[in-house]
Amino acid sequence: MPFYAKSLGANNAKQVDKELRASHAGETGAVWIYRGAMVAEFVSSLFHINNSRHDTKRFIREHLETERRHLAIFESEMPCFRGSFILPLWIAAGFVTGFLPRLFGRNWFFYTIYSVEQFVDAHYDSQCKSMLALPLPPSNVIERFKHCQEEEQHLRDEALSLMTQEPSLPMRLWGRAVEKGSSIAVAIVRLI
Ligand SMILES: [Fe+2]
Repeated sequence: MPFYAKSLGANNAKQVDKELRASHAGETGAVWIYRGAMVAEFVSSLFHINNSRHDTKRFIREHLETERRHLAIFESEMPCFRGSFILPLWIAAGFVTGFLPRLFGRNWFFYTIYSVEQFVDAHYDSQCKSMLALPLPPSNVIERFKHCQEEEQHLRDEALSLMTQEPSLPMRLWGRAVEKGSSIAVAIVRLI
């Protein structure tokens, strides 16, 4: 194989590895968002604060499963990739991102999910576009990214539809911080 073909293949694989690492970390964080929300549900019920309606509990239970399915796709159906060294930070950040808003109330929680999913949708979109532009687009990876992206879009829309009031200014600021934080975290995780 000529050296330029070899280096082309290596660069291609390096790019795909980065995308897989970033989204694997994201899906890990997403699972922990719902675990954090579940713990907050339990704490709220103990102290009778922000008592949950049936739809919030159902949403958390159902979408913990959605995110676990996404994570399983990355862990068992994707080509081999190097996982992030800072995965424990994603777990902690995910937990806090689910726990705190759910403790503040259902609208805080649903708006947080909406903000996270807005970011995730745009991120999957740019990842698919950049992989499609590679000399050897990994169609198996792109197809699975698109499948996850579609489900994230449904999740985003469902979260917004379950809000019972317009997001307040603090909620909007928090949502922006979550999106900005996610984008910084993705930039870091692509490297380490
Ligand atoms: Fe997901």
